[in-house]
Amino acid sequence: MRTHYCGDVNASLDGSEVSVAGWVHRRRDHGGVIFIDLRDRSGILQVVCDPDTAELFAMAEKIRSEFVLTIKGRVRPRPAGTENPNMASGAVELLALELEILNAAETPPFHHDESPSEDLRLQYRYLDLRREEMTQRIMLRHRVTQIMRTYMDENGFLDIETPILTRATPEGARDYVVPSRTHPGSFFALPQSPQLFKQLLMMSGMDRYYQIARCFRDEDLRADRQPEFTQLDVEMSFVKEDDVMNAMENLARRLFSEAIGVQLPAEFPRMTYAEAMQRFGTDRPDLRIPLELVDVADLMNGVEFKVFAGPAADPDGRVAALKLTAGADLSRKDIDDYTAYVGRYGAKGLAYIKVNDVAAGRDGLQSPILKFLPDATVEGLIDRLQLQSGDIVFFGADKRNVVNDALGALRVKIGRDRGLVEGDWAPLWVIEFPMFEWDETEKRWNALHHPFTAPAVNDADALRADPGNAGSRAYDMVLNGTEIGGGSIRIHNSDIQSAVFDVLGIDEQEAQIKFGFLLTALKYGCPPHGGIAFGLDRLVMLMAGAQSIRDVIAFPKTQSASCPLTNAPGQIDARQLREVGIRLRKKEADPGQA
Ligand code: AMO
Ligand code: AMP
Repeated sequence: MRTHYCGDVNASLDGSEVSVAGWVHRRRDHGGVIFIDLRDRSGILQVVCDPDTAELFAMAEKIRSEFVLTIKGRVRPRPAGTENPNMASGAVELLALELEILNAAETPPFHHDESPSEDLRLQYRYLDLRREEMTQRIMLRHRVTQIMRTYMDENGFLDIETPILTRATPEGARDYVVPSRTHPGSFFALPQSPQLFKQLLMMSGMDRYYQIARCFRDEDLRADRQPEFTQLDVEMSFVKEDDVMNAMENLARRLFSEAIGVQLPAEFPRMTYAEAMQRFGTDRPDLRIPLELVDVADLMNGVEFKVFAGPAADPDGRVAALKLTAGADLSRKDIDDYTAYVGRYGAKGLAYIKVNDVAAGRDGLQSPILKFLPDATVEGLIDRLQLQSGDIVFFGADKRNVVNDALGALRVKIGRDRGLVEGDWAPLWVIEFPMFEWDETEKRWNALHHPFTAPAVNDADALRADPGNAGSRAYDMVLNGTEIGGGSIRIHNSDIQSAVFDVLGIDEQEAQIKFGFLLTALKYGCPPHGGIAFGLDRLVMLMAGAQSIRDVIAFPKTQSASCPLTNAPGQIDARQLREVGIRLRKKEADPGQA
């Protein structure tokens, strides 16, 4: 039906006859001449319908936006002064010789140059994907996976598929479950990741595995979280941390250079988890923002201001300062807004000191909390924070995790609000994670990565005795404040695996039920191994400059995990329910009481 894509018609084809096909992007009637901008995924071509060809012209008059056409015509230069340098085909136009309407279109619910609500976009996703920006993103995603596949193949990785209908996997979110008809009352779980299967593949001797794998997690959604998402999933045998990290750094450099022409640094900096939390309040710091948290608890010991003195004396507390150079121009309202903002992260307030005149010492400072701070504390702050006239300092005082969350988020917000973001790309590795984190509500230890991650010290007794201080062999790749990949060296011996389960409060019986197949496999010759998984959606989102991973997924779910296009999830009929042995509970009168 066609000889060329619209975007490929250019001056090199001057004078030749070509056939194109696509959608009517715009039709313009210029008194006597009709212009059709014809669009396909490659771009737009301007077509001219001349009244001299009467039959064709009559057809062109009937054409509306989004009609599907095929047009045969002669390529000619655009009249001088009407060229469009922003279009691949902008130097030429097509004089239509033959035109066929392949399909008419009703007036679409939104037009390209409108910005409809996301619900409408998702409901008519096929129309949304026709927009150039979206087409480009989907094409970029394709390029990225192509480069990944080539790189993985060149480096000896085998592409192996793993089951979607499986048992619960250990990533710690809720499972999506699928009832079994042949085993009434039993359920498959969709994989949260291929973690256990890729480890089994190492035990099978496959040596190097990769998969562009779909993962399913029923968790609270955010801009960078979807209930189903895609990982580049990788596992390698006979490796240490550096082998995995180097292989993946090379891949990242190649992806950025080949897909979007960006040269990432020759070596990604590495930062320990402890340092990241200390300086940035998060384990995924955006290093492009030149603001840091500074500990000041020692200066607050015993001060009259209980808000500070309490956390300063609490081993689980933190008192930290965030200085914004030349930020004293912030208004009362700005500060109130930032106070409300940190409130979302659990902070009970946001104390601040404005530095009007540093030479005047305490008299040159302005702050509601100044009266509670002794001279030594004030001098200590001026010195430690290197305060200058015109600065503002914010303070967080609370449990360590609240201060980290609140000031870590404030740091990023202020950095963006004030245009402080330096440079475009700041990748790094975060290393030396703790093995476990204490869950205060559930009163138990959780695995910070997952329960198959190897501890830094290969000592089962030490692990049981002091889980809080156990380090792990996990690593995350972080880019511009987003965790784009995470992995670890794995446990390959059953004693250590049992010790980890003990700490997590998973008893032998539960371990057998949940992971028995893996524990058994560990006994039959398991190579040391490790791996990583990249969030493909997050990676492409960053490369595309998109704000949400929904914008780089062809058919994503909404924030509430539904699909406005297909109306999934949907009801199933009584017969289907019976077949899988399920009876629905009657809706409670008041769901709040359920
Ligand atoms: P992890 O759980 O850290 O590790 O996931 C790896 C990467 O996947 C991305 N990601 C997500 N992307 C979109 N939506 C989500 N809901 C979502 N959850 C995670 C992140 C993250 O860095 N099996 C291990 C990997 C391993 O140890 O090899 C795992 O899944 O970018
Ligand atoms: P208050 O004593 O509650 O009036 O608070 C005095 C100042 O301390 C206000 O600027 C509050 O925003 C701030 N503040 C209160 N609680 C905290 C906290 N946990 N961390 C930091 N600042 C706080």
